[in-house]
Amino acid sequence: SSTDLAALLAAKIRDVPDYPKPGVVFKDIAPLLGDAEAFAALVDHLAARSRELGATKIVGLEARGFILAAPAAYAAGAGFVPVRKEGKLPGELHRQAYELEYGSAVIEVQTDAFAPGERVLVVDDVLATGGTVEAALELIQRCGAEVAGVEVMMELGFLGGRARLAPLLGDAPLETV
Ligand code: PRP
Repeated sequence: SSTDLAALLAAKIRDVPDYPKPGVVFKDIAPLLGDAEAFAALVDHLAARSRELGATKIVGLEARGFILAAPAAYAAGAGFVPVRKEGKLPGELHRQAYELEYGSAVIEVQTDAFAPGERVLVVDDVLATGGTVEAALELIQRCGAEVAGVEVMMELGFLGGRARLAPLLGDAPLETV
């Protein structure tokens, strides 16, 4: 069941206090990725949701999102699209700035990454403030593609990411595995 999957995954995520700076608890997914059973169960779940939502592309958000989105796309029979941090992609790009806790950042996608109207699933490891996913949704919509849903492994609910994304999501689901 999905409860069993959530418990399996939760047991493999390591809380690292005061990383990368004092007062922050880092969610380290390395033990999960290194566990064949947990990693396969997670990727299989993401692939199944991709098929259910009718996605033909899965977007991964650099860098940890890539680790999950690429195998899920393969397993789902979908294409993989990287949304990258500034300066990493060649050619014609859409760019979106977003606020970080201190300062701001830019993410980019190639303008021809999607066909018009194509259904896209967004995958990332952690939803925190929602700034990264929000910027990615803007990029997908600017490409003329349709957001089929967002799948994250973990949601830090106290940061309010879900509420922030609601206007861009419309009817598309935001799901925590
Ligand atoms: C982390 C995480 C998410 C994002 C969540 O990525 O993997 O992508 O932050 O934060 P938000 O909801 O507040 O935007 P990070 O920028 O640390 O990059 P990395 O995956 O390359 O380590």
